[in-house]
Order: sequence, then structure tokens, then C-alpha cells
Amino acid sequence: MANVTYKNQPAIDKTNGSVPLAGTSHLYTVKKRLWGDSIEEVLQGLFIGQTLHVCCGKSMLGDVRLDADIENEPDIVCDAANMIEHVKSNGFETVLCDPPYNGKFQWNHDLLTELSRVASKRIIFQHWFIPATPKGLYKKAQEKFAISDVYVWQPKTYFGRVQVVTVFDAI
Ligand SMILES: C[S@@+](CC[C@H](N)C(=O)[O-])C[C@H]1O[C@@H](n2cnc3c(N)ncnc32)[C@H](O)[C@@H]1O
Repeated sequence: MANVTYKNQPAIDKTNGSVPLAGTSHLYTVKKRLWGDSIEEVLQGLFIGQTLHVCCGKSMLGDVRLDADIENEPDIVCDAANMIEHVKSNGFETVLCDPPYNGKFQWNHDLLTELSRVASKRIIFQHWFIPATPKGLYKKAQEKFAISDVYVWQPKTYFGRVQVVTVFDAI
């Protein structure tokens, strides 16, 4: 009998722990903050200037918070892969993003492009992959951003995927 649940991530809980890769047809939501205090402290320490937190969930990090789920009470409610009407180009020095992991192929591409459009100095991106070329350049804006740091942390769930936080700085 299963004794591990992902009750704070209902879309994952529904599939008994498998990450739902069904695309963005259903909104991946969170019921509480997933990052612990120590992770938030590290992230906070990485911010330079005005910070936009994309896909913020219940986390209060950032000067401006953006999420598609109104339940998270973000400052901006919109699709992270299309922020054009809400966030101007180079509008924030730092952009932090921990996106849903069920994004469709094209959505992931569009999200990464949008992050590099709205950030002027730094992108902090958490996922299970690193969106960089073998030379460490941000794939969607190779002239603009390069890796400056990579952090890895391990969730409490027994076989939980490690989380990779990559920091890209303007070249
Ligand atoms: C992995 S969670 C973020 C969790 C957060 N880092 C924490 O520690 O609590 C991803 C967030 O993306 C939001 N989201 C899902 N689809 C989105 C979309 N298309 N555009 C913007 N936000 C979206 C969800 O509502 C959720 O809050």
C-alpha cells in the first residue's frame, strides 16, 4: 500500500507519484510552498536588484510574483510562456523561475525564451535539466546569458528527483 503522497502537488498525487507529462491541458497547481526555508534563503541571496518570480506558487520571494493560478495571489496572473502583455523586455534585473514539470515541448521552449527576454542581469532557473549549451551559454539567448553557478538540492521524499538550480548571468 502506498504510504507516500504528493498531497501538496495534486497533479502528481493523482498519478501516484509519476510526474504528469500530459502537457499543459490541466494546470499544475500547488497547495503549499514546496521550497523549505533554507532553500528560500539561498535563492534570496542570489537576487540582484528588482526581481520577478515567475511560476511563484505560494512562495513570497521576489518583488513581483507571477503565476497562472489566481489561488496563489500573484501580482500578475498570466501564462509564463507568454508574458508580453504584462512584463516588458529587460523589465527586471533578476528573474527566478521554478516552472511546472508537465510543460509541453513548445511551452518549455517559449518559457525559456520569455525568461531571457524579461531578465536584464540574471536568470535563476530550477528544473531537472540545465537549459545551456555545452559551452554554458543560455540556449535561448546565447549572446546574453552564461552559467555562473549551479546548485543541487535533494527533496525529503525518499526517491524524489534532485532539483537543479542554475544561475545564468548577463555576459
Ligand atoms: C513547481 S510550482 C512552484 C513551486 C514553488 N517554487 C514553491 O516552492 O512552492 C510551479 C507553479 O507554476 C504555476 N503554473 C502552472 N502553469 C503555469 C503557467 N502556464 N504559467 C504560469 N504559472 C504556471 C503553478 O500554479 C505553480 O504555482
